Amino acid sequence: MKKIAVIGVGYVGLVTAAGFADLGNQVAALDIDEDRIAGLKRGQLPIYEPGLEELVERNAAAGRLEFTTSYPDAIHNADFVFIAVGTPEGVDGEADLKYVQAAAESVAKAMEKPLVIVNKSTVPVGTGDWVADIIRSTQKDGIEFSVVSCPEFLREGSAIQDFMNPARTVLGSLDRDAAERVAQLHLPLRAPIVITDLRTAEMIKYASNAFLATRISFINEIANICEALGADVKEVKTGMGIDPRIGPYFLDAGLGYGGSCFPKDVKALAHMAAEKGRHPQLLQAVMDINDDRRRLLFDKVKQSVGALKGKRIGILGLTFKPNTDDLRDAPALEVARRLMEAGALVRAYDPVGMPGAARLMPDLGMAEDPYALAEGCDALVICTEWNEFKQLDLTRIRSVMNKKLIIDGRNIYEPREMSALGFSYRGIGRGYGPDGAPVVE
Ligand SMILES: NC(=O)c1ccc[n+]([C@@H]2O[C@H](COP(=O)([O-])OP(=O)(O)OC[C@H]3O[C@@H](n4cnc5c(N)ncnc54)[C@H](O)[C@@H]3O)[C@@H](O)[C@H]2O)c1
Repeated sequence: MKKIAVIGVGYVGLVTAAGFADLGNQVAALDIDEDRIAGLKRGQLPIYEPGLEELVERNAAAGRLEFTTSYPDAIHNADFVFIAVGTPEGVDGEADLKYVQAAAESVAKAMEKPLVIVNKSTVPVGTGDWVADIIRSTQKDGIEFSVVSCPEFLREGSAIQDFMNPARTVLGSLDRDAAERVAQLHLPLRAPIVITDLRTAEMIKYASNAFLATRISFINEIANICEALGADVKEVKTGMGIDPRIGPYFLDAGLGYGGSCFPKDVKALAHMAAEKGRHPQLLQAVMDINDDRRRLLFDKVKQSVGALKGKRIGILGLTFKPNTDDLRDAPALEVARRLMEAGALVRAYDPVGMPGAARLMPDLGMAEDPYALAEGCDALVICTEWNEFKQLDLTRIRSVMNKKLIIDGRNIYEPREMSALGFSYRGIGRGYGPDGAPVVE
């Protein structure tokens, strides 16, 4: 059993805190957001993540997981401090490190004994050294400490599963002994552990996200070509993905990547490269292709519906991906905004994202379920591939729509089946028409 403080209880921090508590450690989870901490003390979670509520409740009840806004209380007696605060996009695409800086200063002021400071936030290469400088210059008593980078690879929507069964743990430090101690903490998770230097660990995180984003932009480029040449990108993906050198992951054509990580991380990596006089041409192309996805979907709706003014459009899915309430850089919101600007009457339905979306876009109407959403619609536009959309009663949907048109930004349906059900259907990169014949532009 180790004593651990986790700084920042967002998607990463709360999962990390609850996860380490569940492994038997004593964890203090700290946030500067008083409402967040007050809610957690009452058992109210600030985010939606499958399985997290039960994990938090169980470990809080067992006394292994506590919530606080006090740095001295959290750091008192801690062996390890995990920093998991946000690193949003800054003005020029670089990562904004103000929360990391504030957290490091607060840790330095509160520390009473030697400490291993573990950085989980995604931070530019070199930040670990900078954090060490902040701690050194802020603390008064010259207490020993080490900084270890431990980048986070969890996916929202399956974060608990990813914490408990990580593909790997990456640790970077100039202090091998400190890295080994952090490795010990992760041993029960039985994942391969890579120990390297600080900068390399920080780079592994950016390179991993940039690579996955590249796969998504790659398949989206292929989808555009499929549409022009009359091929079906879903089958192309299947045919490619069986090859073990390629694999099937992150090869789903659609609306592109969004969320709180890929967009800002690819930008930050390109910014780091450009600052050092390098030309990140591939990263630039990845970002350009991704930016186009939302406009292309909007164009598809416009082409299919005709003049948008006064047309009723229903958006199915708002969050940037299924099984999360995260709306940060969600493609659906941009598609909805473009449609509204073009004069369409837009409503949406999402299983968990509607309260957050209503705060961000007060003019966006909401429906209580997909069937209410479809009522009187000239088109339904699928923006997030929630499981509950995959087996809707499509006959019922069709019967209440004004025009039987579905634009599927996530390819959850099959063109032939939709046609047989009486819909006009357009997916992404599905070059084959409803009758099975290639549709060449
Ligand atoms: N969300 C993901 O799926 C994911 C996955 C891998 C890595 N990451 C990275 O992890 C980091 C955290 O991401 P997130 O999505 O959990 O962020 P988040 O915005 O959900 O949570 C950050 C939390 O930090 C708190 N905070 C800010 N400043 C603080 C301070 N000085 N002291 C204490 N708390 C403070 C905020 O109040 C907030 O609750 C980011 O660097 C992100 O890039 C995120």
